[in-house]
Amino acid sequence: MSASPDLEKLRTFYADAPDDVSLDALDLGRLPRHISIIMDGNGRWATARGLDRSKGHAAGVDSLRETITASVRLGIECLSAYAFSTENWKRPRHEVELLMRLFSKTLAKEMPLFHQEHVRLKIIGDMDGLPKSLRASFERAMEETASYDVMTLALAVNYGARDELTHAMRAIVSEVQAASLDPESIDEDTLAAHLYTAGLPDPELLVRTSGELRLSNFLLWQLAYTEFYISPLMWPDFDRWELLRAIYSFQSRDRRFGGVK
Ligand code: FPP
Repeated sequence: MSASPDLEKLRTFYADAPDDVSLDALDLGRLPRHISIIMDGNGRWATARGLDRSKGHAAGVDSLRETITASVRLGIECLSAYAFSTENWKRPRHEVELLMRLFSKTLAKEMPLFHQEHVRLKIIGDMDGLPKSLRASFERAMEETASYDVMTLALAVNYGARDELTHAMRAIVSEVQAASLDPESIDEDTLAAHLYTAGLPDPELLVRTSGELRLSNFLLWQLAYTEFYISPLMWPDFDRWELLRAIYSFQSRDRRFGGVK
């Protein structure tokens, strides 16, 4: 279960609700421990407004900030967000460079939020493939926030689930070759412990925005029993209220994990 939220701060943050949402309808004792988000639709949001795609990414940063604060207020233990996939290198060079600059800039700008709210940053993905200075900034930010325990923000950067599983497989094989791991002892926990997400609970709720019905190589192992919520909103339009709608939807599901009730 997630940590108990500070009710006063929570009510203040969620004041002025739209007609279809009410904080009171939420079961605060049954919140997902880990919410995972595929932030999709920045480009389409911008194009629909006659703007450059970069404006969509900039607006996407605002949605992520709001979602981080909303999750902290609710007492969510872990929030993961897909920021850049191993496939995103195929985008035009100028957009890739823009996103790398945006990650650096956003990290510098949002550090006070992490310190204020005691959010621990964890980068999931292949950091070796990132520009050196960005990698160094992420490492510094992870070190600085390592002791925070209010919420973990697992930001997926240069992340691909198949790449993650391949890395895990290589690491396991080298341990077996070095005789530090007995192949007979390998089980699901061994594999989970070699993933970028080692130590984090599996997501209980996955939100994907922009109405798309794909996993796009995200957390293939970890999402085995996760409930999905597909939001029609483009990521820059996602806000604290849509997060509540996703959680209501999650709380209305009958989760059986392959068994019967
Ligand atoms: C999807 O929009 C979003 C991304 C590729 C990731 C970038 C995410 C952000 C900038 C949000 C903030 C994150 C951080 C860490 C600063 P898209 O370009 O795929 O949209 P489209 O499908 O409409 O083209």
